[in-house]
Amino acid sequence: MRPKIITAAVLCLLQVSECASLWKDTTPQTPQPYALEKGRGILLGSGETWNTFPVTGNSSGKAFALMNTNGPGTPGEGVFPHVHKKTYENFYSAKGRIQLWGQDLTGYLSNTSIQTTRILSPGDFGGIPNGTIHTFRLLEPDTQLTGVLVPGGFEEFFFAMAGPVSNGSTGSFNLTELPAWDVYPQHDFSPRSDVVNGKAGPGNWYDGPNPLPEQDKNPIWIAKNHGPKWLNDEIGFYQIVAPLVRGQQSGGLFSQGHITMSPLQNRENGTVPKMISERATAFMVEEGELIVHVDGFDEARLIGGDVVFLPEGTRYAYFAAAEFTKVMYVSGGGNRESGLDEMLIQGGRDWSSAFYPRSGGAGERKRGIKI
Ligand SMILES: *[C@@H]1O[C@H](CO)[C@@H](O)[C@H](O)[C@H]1NC(C)=O
Ligand SMILES: *[C@@H]1O[C@H](CO)[C@@H](O)[C@H](O)[C@H]1NC(C)=O
Ligand SMILES: *[C@@H]1O[C@H](CO)[C@@H](O)[C@H](O)[C@H]1NC(C)=O
Ligand SMILES: *[C@@H]1O[C@H](CO)[C@@H](O)[C@H](O)[C@H]1NC(C)=O
Ligand SMILES: *[C@@H]1O[C@H](CO)[C@@H](O)[C@H](O)[C@H]1NC(C)=O
Ligand SMILES: *[C@@H]1O[C@H](CO)[C@@H](O)[C@H](O)[C@H]1NC(C)=O
Repeated sequence: MRPKIITAAVLCLLQVSECASLWKDTTPQTPQPYALEKGRGILLGSGETWNTFPVTGNSSGKAFALMNTNGPGTPGEGVFPHVHKKTYENFYSAKGRIQLWGQDLTGYLSNTSIQTTRILSPGDFGGIPNGTIHTFRLLEPDTQLTGVLVPGGFEEFFFAMAGPVSNGSTGSFNLTELPAWDVYPQHDFSPRSDVVNGKAGPGNWYDGPNPLPEQDKNPIWIAKNHGPKWLNDEIGFYQIVAPLVRGQQSGGLFSQGHITMSPLQNRENGTVPKMISERATAFMVEEGELIVHVDGFDEARLIGGDVVFLPEGTRYAYFAAAEFTKVMYVSGGGNRESGLDEMLIQGGRDWSSAFYPRSGGAGERKRGIKI
């Protein structure tokens, strides 16, 4: 298999033959480089509430799963409070609003920690480490919850719950089998209902900086643009890296966050060095246009909602074609304890703004007044 790919890459560089397309119609069942348009991926559900899985345990070699849940908020309806002992689960509002509650199970049982909750508006994030009680609710008619499950494979539970039971009927999942799926209900847990300005429980939200916790046991709450940021300009364009989870918060399991890029200038003569993905890596585009080059494949141009997945060891380059191109990244699995984010952070500098530096351009204007 490998020699074939190398041959394809060489021919592709020489433009002797056509390269393979990165684009697929749905999520592959084995790890390979691929891209999916917005809304594509293995589907579960129908009508107004459905899930798509652009990255699964199967497609990522168990590194992680990336899923989008679209649906309306149904008043009073949510998921019973529960714990995953093995799976780290991450909640991100791509649109609409979601309420998420979290408290570490040990602290809850010994009454030594305090329950937290946040209303996640678009761009807000809640990270739930394994061993944390949590429950959530979609709050608006058009909500999209982007979930990241680590390691990948937990999503099989959603398919099992929805699928036919052994006697052939559907929709009657045997609840006593939940622990076998890494789901431990916590029926005594009472979600607090005293939210003010989008939060209850300790920590800042939109009222101050949202640092990442020191260790990997507490929920992580990052309001849009209120987390730590670094600016990297090593390869000819600006990249603001804004992590939501780093190795330190996940026991080295994975990282997740945003990269905001300035467009590559002078594409004709500008060069973007290829790099190797040291861990399985996915990008989901949120704004602008991302261009991805993978050895052996045609160039892929991704816009809002599109996803690209790169298995560990893939040689690739990426850059932005549009101003303020913003992507969510997830990187995990493999033998490494760090991925793309740590590389960008190490080569970058502390940065507080949500924008990269911009030159004024000819005839600087302020609110339409020519100076
Ligand atoms: C993952 O692969 C297994 C084994 O082939 C299969 O049974 C399962 O349905 C796949 N899961 C998904 C979500 O595609
Ligand atoms: C938990 O601790 C709080 C104060 O720290 C106390 O008011 C409450 O009664 C305790 N609950 C239990 C069940 O011990
Ligand atoms: C979470 O998972 C890690 C393995 O990734 C394990 O070492 C740890 O004990 C788990 N934490 C809890 C609270 O179960
Ligand atoms: C299958 O099992 C469910 C409960 O587990 C039961 O409600 C249903 O009647 C059963 N269907 C058949 C055809 O036996
Ligand atoms: C549910 O699963 C348990 C354990 O596997 C089993 O003992 C029980 O009979 C099952 N109940 C139903 C309704 O199938
Ligand atoms: C790159 O190309 C642009 C025009 O396409 C030219 O103006 C510029 O001088 C070139 N820069 C370098 C470093 O060659």
